[in-house]
Amino acid sequence: MKAPRELKVKPIKNGTVIDHINANKALKVLKILGLPSPGISVTLAMNVQSSQMGNKDIVKIEGRELASREVDEIALIAPQATINIVREYEIAGKSKVNLLDEISSILECSNPNCITNTDEPVTTHFTVLQKEPLILRCHYCERILDQTDVETQFKVY
Ligand code: CTP
Ligand code: ZN
Repeated sequence: MKAPRELKVKPIKNGTVIDHINANKALKVLKILGLPSPGISVTLAMNVQSSQMGNKDIVKIEGRELASREVDEIALIAPQATINIVREYEIAGKSKVNLLDEISSILECSNPNCITNTDEPVTTHFTVLQKEPLILRCHYCERILDQTDVETQFKVY
C-alpha cells in the first residue's frame, strides 16, 4: 500500500515559505537572510523527500512577507528555490528566485590584494558570468569565484 503523503512541517498562517532549496543548504539560506532574528519564527525541514528534486530543504518564516529583492541572493545557494507568500493559510503568490547579473556587497573577494579587502571604503561588486554552475568575476580585480568559493562564504559552523 502506498504511504500517505506526509506533511513534514505544519502549514503557516501568514508569511513566506521558501521551498525547493537544495538538500542540506537551508542553514546557508538562513544566513543570507540574516535569520534567525528575534521575534521572527522560523521552521525548517531538511533533507525531506521531493518528487522533483530527490531531496530538498524548506524554510518557513512566520509573519513576514519577503520581497523578491530581499530573496534573490538566495539563488547563489539555491537556484531552484520557490518563494511562496502565504496569507490566511492560502498561497497568495509564488515565484522563483532570480539571480541578478550583478551582485553587490554580500560576497567577499577572495583576492587579499583586492581593493575591496583594503581599508578603502569600497563595497564588493561581482558580475555573474554563468548561473549554473555559478561563476562570478570581481569588478575590481577580475578574480573568479565559483560555486564552492561562494558556498564557503556562508559557513554556518
Ligand atoms: N505551505 C505552508 N503553509 C501554508 C500553505 C503552504 O507552509 N498555509 C507550504 C507547503 O507546505 C509547500 C509550499 O508552502 O511547502 C508551497 O505550497 P503549495 O503551492 O500548496 O505546494 P505545491 O503545489 O507542492 O508547490 P509547488 O508547485 O511549488 O511544488
Ligand atoms: Zn577582487
